[in-house]
Amino acid sequence: MADDRFFEALYRAVGEAYDRVPWAALEPRPALIEWLDCDPPAPGAAALVVACGLGDDAEELARRGCAVDAFDYAPTAIAEARRRFPQSVVDYRVADLLDLPRAWDRRFARVVEVQTIQSIPPADHRAAVAAIAATVAPGGKLFVRAAMRGEHDPAPHRPWPLKWSELEWFVDEGLTLTDRLSAYDDGVFVHLEYTR
Ligand SMILES: C[S@@+](CC[C@H](N)C(=O)[O-])C[C@H]1O[C@@H](n2cnc3c(N)ncnc32)[C@H](O)[C@@H]1O
Repeated sequence: MADDRFFEALYRAVGEAYDRVPWAALEPRPALIEWLDCDPPAPGAAALVVACGLGDDAEELARRGCAVDAFDYAPTAIAEARRRFPQSVVDYRVADLLDLPRAWDRRFARVVEVQTIQSIPPADHRAAVAAIAATVAPGGKLFVRAAMRGEHDPAPHRPWPLKWSELEWFVDEGLTLTDRLSAYDDGVFVHLEYTR
């Protein structure tokens, strides 16, 4: 179980001044758009957005015809996503990545993970990777955007960028690295596709 009030406090503090949320792009991530353009999801495909924040990536999947679940640990993020997209068909909810509904096991054809693992203390990275991987259906695909650090570089404070050896845990969980959207890598973030 997570016990982290940092994000909830920040979302509350900024209210509707969304441009003050440091990580919020307020539009779908360009690498995600390309991933979807290159390999469009089947109509009605079940999709999950992990730690959806203010909802832009979830809305993009819904716009493309997916049946989207999206969750975040911060209730204010979920409230603001609903407020920003009042006509949304996305099923937004408050949930903890480290304690997801069992009904989500291997349920989703498309899973989107953008900068969540690095937002969780390193001691829980292994469990976070396992929880994300568990939601990917057989044949399903996972999009990952993550900040990286060197294998021996310290990560003394949040965010806690990932080491390559931590991304390898997706493979240990039964996924295969099937694509690199490296055109979008910028020296900090990598963009990857895994498939079950
Ligand atoms: C860096 S933000 C990224 C948000 C969103 N993916 C985006 O790209 O804007 C990290 C998000 O993870 C959420 N979060 C942190 N720990 C979580 C947990 N244990 N379960 C679910 N969400 C969590 C935070 O509330 C925050 O919205």
